[in-house]
Amino acid sequence: MSEENLITVSGLRTVLPSKEGREVSLVDGIDLTIPGGKTVGLVGESGCGKSMTARSLMRLLDAPIYIKEGTIQFHGQNLASLPEKEMRSIRGHQISMIFQEPMTALNPSITVGKQVREAILLHEKVTRREAKERVIQMFRNVGIPEPELRYRSYPHQLSGGLRQRICIAMAMILEPEFLIADEPTTALDVTVEAQILALMKQLQGSHKMSILMITHNLGVVADICDEVNVMYAGQIVEHADKAELFHHPLHPYTLGLMKAIPRVRGKMEGELYTIRGTVPSMAQMPAGCRFCDRCPYATEQCRRERPGLRDVGGGHLVRCFREVIE
Ligand SMILES: Nc1ncnc2c1ncn2[C@@H]1O[C@H](COP(=O)(O)OP(=O)(O)O)[C@@H](O)[C@H]1O
Ligand SMILES: [Mg+2]
Repeated sequence: MSEENLITVSGLRTVLPSKEGREVSLVDGIDLTIPGGKTVGLVGESGCGKSMTARSLMRLLDAPIYIKEGTIQFHGQNLASLPEKEMRSIRGHQISMIFQEPMTALNPSITVGKQVREAILLHEKVTRREAKERVIQMFRNVGIPEPELRYRSYPHQLSGGLRQRICIAMAMILEPEFLIADEPTTALDVTVEAQILALMKQLQGSHKMSILMITHNLGVVADICDEVNVMYAGQIVEHADKAELFHHPLHPYTLGLMKAIPRVRGKMEGELYTIRGTVPSMAQMPAGCRFCDRCPYATEQCRRERPGLRDVGGGHLVRCFREVIE
């Protein structure tokens, strides 16, 4: 591939130590590359480790959870081992994150304008007035009506959609090179979701940033991503370009996720499909493939052996033993 990768994650393992002295891997040795200017999806059901991956990249892990192994290369630095002080100057500035629930990311007792302005004052030497003007301009860019008025609003005075726009403005204000969006539209209704995704695409075009779009919704992936990583039980189980993934999905888990997409246009074919069973507990993984208990194609080999991630051609990777007959 000729494109330069902005971020290269290799063998990232994030663990939770238990009282008995054992360690549970919440992120279990993942490789991930984010090319410059592209949007890469990270999809999977709730509990599979998407947010842990995001928090590991941002180095925002709650103790005692920590990065045990692996590297996160960004401009010749390894973020996994960077001193916290240096990480702090990268966070929010070169790399920022939008969280799933905008309310938890905002301080309820400070007006939204001031909060975003503080982000500028923390990283740049500008006057308060200049910073305020930039905030109002950014509020306008993210489609906040009456931005001067909204500048003085408190988070609780705004709708969920407006709060998420504030968070996007906050994440974008220092023009980061890399934006991690952790289910940014999950708490919003579908009309607002469509607006927010359109906004992110537009901002990406004008700012040339790379985005890691985390979602459990393949519809969002279809809308916005260039490449996709499917995550299951702490591991990447499939990786491909978007078109390749949607036309030739290979992992039975990906096939299950696709069958579970509700059809908005056209006739609904009976009940919405759900993948049987649930994600196994990170502390009690099956001996073989982690998906085998839920997989309609599982064989004896799948119960015994752990499949590695193999390349089936053109950078399409899949963690499955099944030979695919085209
Ligand atoms: N603060 C925490 N302490 C212990 N375990 C956690 C914590 N946060 C998440 N986990 C566990 O880590 C796993 C991955 O969670 P998470 O990354 O939040 O999943 P996702 O974002 O894909 O829904 C889950 O098994 C979850 O229970
Ligand atoms: Mg999450």
